[in-house]
Amino acid sequence: MTLKVFIQTYGCQMNEADSEEMFLHLSARGAVRTDNLDEADAVLINTCTVRDHAEHRALSFLGRLCKWKRQNPQRIIIFAGCAAERLGKSVQKRYPHLNITAGAKGIEHFSDTLDKSALFPKAGQTAQASSGLSAYVTIMRGCNFNCTYCIVPSVRGPVKCLPAADILAEAKRKAQSGAKEITLLGQTVNAYQEGTVSFADLLNRVSEIPGVERVRFTSPHPIYFTPDFLKGVKDNPKIARHVHLPVQSGSTRVLQDMKRGYTREIFLEKVHALQTCGFEISTDIIVGFPTETEQDFQDTLTLVDQARFMAAYCFKYSPRQGTPAAQMQLLPQNILEERLDMLLNKVRGLAEAAYQRQVGTTQQVLMETPAKGRSSSNFWVQMPIAYEVGSVVSCKIDKAEETLLFARNEHD
Ligand code: 5AD
Ligand code: SF4
Repeated sequence: MTLKVFIQTYGCQMNEADSEEMFLHLSARGAVRTDNLDEADAVLINTCTVRDHAEHRALSFLGRLCKWKRQNPQRIIIFAGCAAERLGKSVQKRYPHLNITAGAKGIEHFSDTLDKSALFPKAGQTAQASSGLSAYVTIMRGCNFNCTYCIVPSVRGPVKCLPAADILAEAKRKAQSGAKEITLLGQTVNAYQEGTVSFADLLNRVSEIPGVERVRFTSPHPIYFTPDFLKGVKDNPKIARHVHLPVQSGSTRVLQDMKRGYTREIFLEKVHALQTCGFEISTDIIVGFPTETEQDFQDTLTLVDQARFMAAYCFKYSPRQGTPAAQMQLLPQNILEERLDMLLNKVRGLAEAAYQRQVGTTQQVLMETPAKGRSSSNFWVQMPIAYEVGSVVSCKIDKAEETLLFARNEHD
């Protein structure tokens, strides 16, 4: 009998990629995917713990599955990822209906975990996923930083770079099964170094794989964007001109307390160097870090103006147990709420302004439907006529409406 698996993923793109990897091990044991919880025989919850809210959502889903399992006690529940790593055995105690926990550090051993559980048949050949237009390839796991607010290093462990040969083989497999766009993933993805292979080398090599039209990556850390990196990528148009570069705060003092390793000025320098090479920048910002004063918060607001981000994701500071910042006195919730509101007001217009800046430029658009595609800098573009999905079309941008660009074919 085929086993049907329902997969619920919380959190970042690393987690999306990990869910895919875990599913491959399940499919080697005869499982297929379902989007219908009622008909599922197993549920895989891949969790996030970066903020308390994310963990809470995963746990409340797990709680709701209690009833689902009571309907048929043969059903299987797998609790995986970052919250599973943090909570360890305690979650098993609290939720006795849970069958398997697989923490983020053990993703590579997921196949053994399934075997040990004896709940699945023996694995046949590990299936290869057929890729959509866009595919993820994990190039490193873990993080060597110790940002004082962040729980990631403790749940994902120190950096482990995957061998370049394995990464290239994986990207090639994905390209052969239809991927035109490859996104390289890692917690500090641009810290990648394996022997003599630098991150820029790796991007260039992936871009040379037949069928690959575009290479993206996420998430980088500002300090690794060196002049050498820019020199290594600037002449390669297949490397997407978009970088998601978390700043976290616009105040040098708060950045120091966060142990981010750069000042406001250094961050802005990096941003401008990237923008000079045509990169559009999006970012993450935390408001209400324990030592953030009104002036520090104002510095974050002015940084948003100066950096010309295309988008900013804003979060209220959430204390995470065991991190250095969790020892500090919290700011009152109403201050966090007020600052978040003010920041959200400020960032609301960023995308539209960025879309307007594209008018009059020439863009290479990777078609995702016959009518619409994405530019190298990740803007949506509507084409005047239909094109083959997966093809790259060069076009001039005529106008922008909200968050959509309209193109004229260059060869008309
Ligand atoms: N509180 C709030 N936001 C956080 N992030 C990481 N840790 C915390 C925390 N303790 C945010 C950062 C990071 C993004 C993935 O989540 O902005 O870039
Ligand atoms: Fe967390 Fe800092 Fe590592 Fe990013 S670089 S995962 S914020 S510790």
